[in-house]
Amino acid sequence: ATITFITNDNETIIAEGTTGSVMELAVQNKVKGIDGDCGGVCSCATCHVHVEAEHWEKIGAPSELENDMLEFDENVSEYSRLCCQIDVTDAIDGVVLKVVK
Ligand code: FES
Repeated sequence: ATITFITNDNETIIAEGTTGSVMELAVQNKVKGIDGDCGGVCSCATCHVHVEAEHWEKIGAPSELENDMLEFDENVSEYSRLCCQIDVTDAIDGVVLKVVK
């Protein structure tokens, strides 16, 4: 899948991946602002992104655990996700994610 990340500096990074989580893909591609401090176990919120509204259907809503974690972060919107909880699959091809910092 091809995933586009937009950082806070308005840098656009287009990443290509087939496995793993979106957070891992972001770290591999050095996307600024995605740190993945907890290693992807949904307990740090350093992988917070806003999904572009038009792509929300593809990505889907966060789990209860993820929502609990998001409550502790800032700039939470209705399109917030922790991207370590999103698997890279063909189903999410073409989505655009804005890094939240
Ligand atoms: Fe820690 Fe996603 S990497 S919550």
